[in-house]
Amino acid sequence: MSHRWRRVHLPLTSSTQEDVQAMAEAGAPAGTVVRADAQTHGRGRGDRAWASPQGGLWFSALLRPRRTTWGLLPILAGVSVASVLAVQGLDARVKWPNDVLVDDRKVCGVLLSGRTGEAPHAVLGVGLNANLDVGDLPDAVRGHATTTREELGRDLPVPELLDGVLEALALRLDRWERGEDEALVEEWERLAWGLGSAVILADGTRGTVEGLEEDGALRVRPREEGTVRVTDGDAVTWLAWDGR
Ligand code: BTN
Repeated sequence: MSHRWRRVHLPLTSSTQEDVQAMAEAGAPAGTVVRADAQTHGRGRGDRAWASPQGGLWFSALLRPRRTTWGLLPILAGVSVASVLAVQGLDARVKWPNDVLVDDRKVCGVLLSGRTGEAPHAVLGVGLNANLDVGDLPDAVRGHATTTREELGRDLPVPELLDGVLEALALRLDRWERGEDEALVEEWERLAWGLGSAVILADGTRGTVEGLEEDGALRVRPREEGTVRVTDGDAVTWLAWDGR
């Protein structure tokens, strides 16, 4: 399937993720994209708040995947954003599970929500700190966040950024629908932040990050032996990263 996007632009909303979720339940077609200039209740992973002031790229896209396992969806969304930032000259890296970093600091987060079962839908939310000063972000994230403005010293046109990300996303969604998981994993690993890094897992296991599994899990090699698959982003503490 080739992806066609139907864009809706809102000056202000509570959360584009909630908007698209409601539209999905009401039968909106796959490819519906809602972008807002600002969100009053932007949501991040683990139900954390996501600061979304004017100047960022905040959008959610509705997918109605035929595949039943979605672990690679946020992975390929992160890679799509990183590829667009690379075109702007930034050395963007993907940090498992769903972040994009520049200069070791978070510039973008991806959120996947949705419903499986009958008439499944997936909503991919992307929050990219674009034309913002780090000072526009809350104190709690400032230390480990960055923005494209900070990194480039100039602003980027947000509608064109959206076009670029959607184009990059469509390309990778097509690959995903064709089952080209290995190629997607390889691309992620080429762009990955923290391969070979030391981590501590929720159960106290210490190990080294080895790579990505084809279902989107993180492969960690414990000090002892074997490998461990990690699926919960909050279950990994990266010793080289002090952010969320
Ligand atoms: C994260 O925690 O890193 C994910 C952040 C995702 C934020 C985006 S902004 C557009 C969309 N609407 C939301 O409320 N959240 C996502």
